[in-house]
Formats: sequence, structure tokens, C-alpha cells
Amino acid sequence: MLHEARKALMQARRIVVFTGAGMSAESGVPTFRDALTGLWARFSAEALATPEAFARDPALVWGWYEWRRARVRAAQPNAGHRAIAAFAAHRAADDGGCVTVVTQNVDDLHERAGTPAAVHLHGSLFAPRCSACAAPGAFAEADPLEPEDGRHLEPPHCAHCGGTIRPGVVWFGEGLPEAAWAAASAALGDCDLVLCVGTSALVYPAAALPERAVRAGALLVQVNPGRTAFDALARFNLRGSAATVLPALLCG
Ligand code: APR
Repeated sequence: MLHEARKALMQARRIVVFTGAGMSAESGVPTFRDALTGLWARFSAEALATPEAFARDPALVWGWYEWRRARVRAAQPNAGHRAIAAFAAHRAADDGGCVTVVTQNVDDLHERAGTPAAVHLHGSLFAPRCSACAAPGAFAEADPLEPEDGRHLEPPHCAHCGGTIRPGVVWFGEGLPEAAWAAASAALGDCDLVLCVGTSALVYPAAALPERAVRAGALLVQVNPGRTAFDALARFNLRGSAATVLPALLCG
């Protein structure tokens, strides 16, 4: 099956790689819910990842995201991230068609592996902005928290309007960033093949994009050790981890 999926990839001109939390699992980045351990075990997702939570206790929420950002900074891209970046660069150099990476992850591991312009559907831990005027914000500390330092932390203030800087991630109950949604819709609306990696495909509206692409005729290849909501849609279900399957699929 790997061989056939590889052949389909080689024949496709416009490819979208659509990734979720499983993409970064082997880099040691915990999923949102898996991160609710230790210091954070007594909090619910609603207490940390909603606009209401930030309004109620900005230092708690900012501290949580700074702790997560520190954990991501301490992690490294895995062989799967690197295989995607190498495949895209190789394709571009050979004029073999375009590869767009669309991710639901808020980490920067695709970028650090060499994918310069991953589309972040759920925002980024590295793009804080003003909660009042939406201007890009800066982090308060040049040297951020150590991963074990999770704690309340006062968010910085906007250099333009003095508003409170908020994490640049999408919270529960919020819409997706318009530019990212437009870029992802365009790429998935006009591709021959979607390679879905490490997503349960349960979170909407993100999961609707590969579904739409398949309805429009694209072929779906999935890399995931477990079953997902995309199993029935996929032409090839490659059951394995991102760091083992992707190098064999894309660079083998
Ligand atoms: N390689 C590939 N896939 C893996 C690996 C791995 N090493 N380990 C786990 N997986 C798979 C799991 O089998 C599961 O299908 O990754 C998927 C992770 O699913 P979710 O935790 O639901 O992550 P995701 O699909 O990215 O969730 C979407 O939900 O929590 C919110 O906003 C958050 O962006 C996130 C969104």
C-alpha cells in the first residue's frame, strides 16, 4: 500500500499536507488535553482556552500559553516534519508541482523543519496580538519560561494602544483567522491529493476542508496509527506514526 500511495503522490501536481496534533507527538509536544497535567491538572479547557477565561484571569491564561510555548521551544521537529519540508523543496526545485502545508497545530515545528509558510488554521503560540486593536504583540521576556515554570504571568501591553496582549491561538467559541482560512480553502479547493497526518478529523470547521477536497475529486492519503473520521474517505490508510511513515512515503 505504501508503494501505491507513493505512486499517487508522485503523479499529483497540487498537494496539500493537512496535519494535526499527531504530527508533533513524536517531538514530545503534548496535545492540548494531554498538557492538562501536573501544575495544570486542576484546570479545565474552558478555564484556559476561551475569551471568557482570558477576560476573567488574563495572568492564568497567559501563563498557560507561555508554559506551552516553552515546551514547544524545548522540542525539535521530528523526521516527519523534515520529510514534508524536504519533499516540498524537492518538488519546487524540480517544478514538480506545489505542496501546501495546512496545520491545526499551534507549534512552529513545520517552520523549524524548513517549511517556510505553513498555514496555521488554529493560530500560533508565536503570534501574540493586542486583544483591543489586534496589532501584533511582543513577548515580555527575551528569555521565556522554562517548561517547569508554569505559573500565573501578567500579559504584556500593546505598544500602540496599551491593550492587553493575548495569545495568537484560536480559542473555543472563536472563528478561525480569516487569512488562514482563505489560504487553506484555496489550497484544498484546488488540489489533486490531500495527505492527512495525525488528525482525528473531529474538529470543525477544519475537518470540512479535506472532506470538500475529496468531494471535488482529490485523492486522500492518510497517515495515522489509529482509526479516524477520515478512514472511509481515504484511498490509502497508512497505519503508522508520522515520523516512521512520512520519510518512507515522501523520501524513500
Ligand atoms: N503519528 C501520527 N498520528 C498520531 C501519532 C503519531 N505519532 N500519535 C497520535 N496520532 C493521531 C491520533 O491517532 C489521533 O488521530 O493523532 C490524532 C490526534 O487527534 P487530536 O488530539 O484530536 O488532534 P487534532 O485532530 O489535531 O485536533 C484538532 O482540536 O484540541 C483541538 O485545536 C485543537 O488543533 C486541535 C484540534
